[in-house]
Amino acid sequence: MHRRNFIQLSAISAAVLVTGCTTKSDEALPVETGLISGSALFIPALLDPVADTNGVKQFNLSIKESTHKFYSEYDTKTYGIDASYLGPTLLLRQGEKVSINYKNELLETTTMHGHGMHLPAKMDGGPHQLIEVGATWSAQYTVNQNACTNWYHPHEMGKTADHVYMGLAGMIIVEDNESTGLGLPSSYGVDDIPLVIQDRLFDALGQFNYNPSNQQIMRGYRGDTIITNGQVSPIFDAKSGLLRLRLLNGSNAGLYRFSLADNRAFNQIAGDNSLLEKPVSITSVLLSPGERAEIIVDLSNDIGTKLDLMVNEEIDNLTKIALSINVQAEIADIVTLPNTLAILDIADATQAVNTRSFTLEGSGMGGPTLTINNKEMDMAIYNETVPLNQIEIWEITNTMNMPHNFHIHATHFRLIERNGSTSAVSETEKGYKDVVFIPANEKVKVLIQMLDYTDATSPYMYHCHFLEHEDAGMMGQFIVV
Ligand code: C2O
Ligand code: CU
Ligand code: CU
Repeated sequence: MHRRNFIQLSAISAAVLVTGCTTKSDEALPVETGLISGSALFIPALLDPVADTNGVKQFNLSIKESTHKFYSEYDTKTYGIDASYLGPTLLLRQGEKVSINYKNELLETTTMHGHGMHLPAKMDGGPHQLIEVGATWSAQYTVNQNACTNWYHPHEMGKTADHVYMGLAGMIIVEDNESTGLGLPSSYGVDDIPLVIQDRLFDALGQFNYNPSNQQIMRGYRGDTIITNGQVSPIFDAKSGLLRLRLLNGSNAGLYRFSLADNRAFNQIAGDNSLLEKPVSITSVLLSPGERAEIIVDLSNDIGTKLDLMVNEEIDNLTKIALSINVQAEIADIVTLPNTLAILDIADATQAVNTRSFTLEGSGMGGPTLTINNKEMDMAIYNETVPLNQIEIWEITNTMNMPHNFHIHATHFRLIERNGSTSAVSETEKGYKDVVFIPANEKVKVLIQMLDYTDATSPYMYHCHFLEHEDAGMMGQFIVV
């Protein structure tokens, strides 16, 4: 049996844990004028909840203005959650009652959405759950889903892209009884590493200045600097053995393909919302905004060497080092992977009793218009009414000459077809998902069933997770009845 070994890290001890990295002087680090690169990887703190007298685990977080050191020369104005950029990682266990309390210390309203969390609509943190300035809003629910890597981020109507860009995002790790017994690397910050990958554009004074033009809204707002946990090409000292990386594409509109610098194979063990049934060996993984992948890199034969995790942003074709991994002599606890990871329900499309179609459309003429079924998001309109437990096919068609994706709140779905073909669905996309990538002029079919939480007056969202598109209107609402 492998002992779970989560270390409660404060931001300070995390910094201590990862110091001591060195870079050989002959290695060229990416030159981004004045940007700090090659520092020890920042591991977001694992937030320690306090159990109240009712056994509810209370997580307290404050959303604040801050400044973050991307440049030695400048302080970049940011937003953070108990940090100068991003926020702590929340570890939630299936079956436990939680109250995640977000205090808004910004000078503007925001919201905080649990992306991938299966919860009641009122607890979703979508555009209807505004957190007023100075107020605290609590997402209270019982954790009711399988092990996966989720995340939290703002979702205010028209402001999501801006607030995420400023730095508001954090990871949520969900565990269940089966997942903890699998013998996967699970020592947080040691062999189980959260990586939030984003791209940013800085102005001449090292500031974000997020203010997209109409063209940037249409094309998606991307920068030329890739950051991982808020750092440019950070360095991580790993033990030899298996290293688990929880990859989150936390960008507004970047399409990231991850690979290892020597092109070696690695195993993907989880997608958005669950473990895969078995590890899938691949040499690269593509993540559109909001998607996650847990991958296992085998460092058993790499003692004393360095291995770079590369990221290619495919729309602008920009390749950067997402993370440099220095492999130490020490051997990690886990050196082999189990063959079976999870048993998932069979995705049986013949059981579907209803099909809904969603057409993603848009035009840049006379200002950007981005719609689903010819409608822009309207907070007052619930576009779809979905009966509880009904198995449905949602067919999503991208009519545009540019990529989009599609995210559905509070549930997971199974991807069953790409462009009419079941065999075009890759093994890595056969777990439970909550975001599906849809290349230009393609279509997908997903199988969905809403299993809990009816509420005729509180909607959930579905939308393109390219955040400029979402904010511009490519979003709709559904209620579960
Ligand atoms: Cu990641 Cu509607 O959100
Ligand atoms: Cu979501
Ligand atoms: Cu889009």
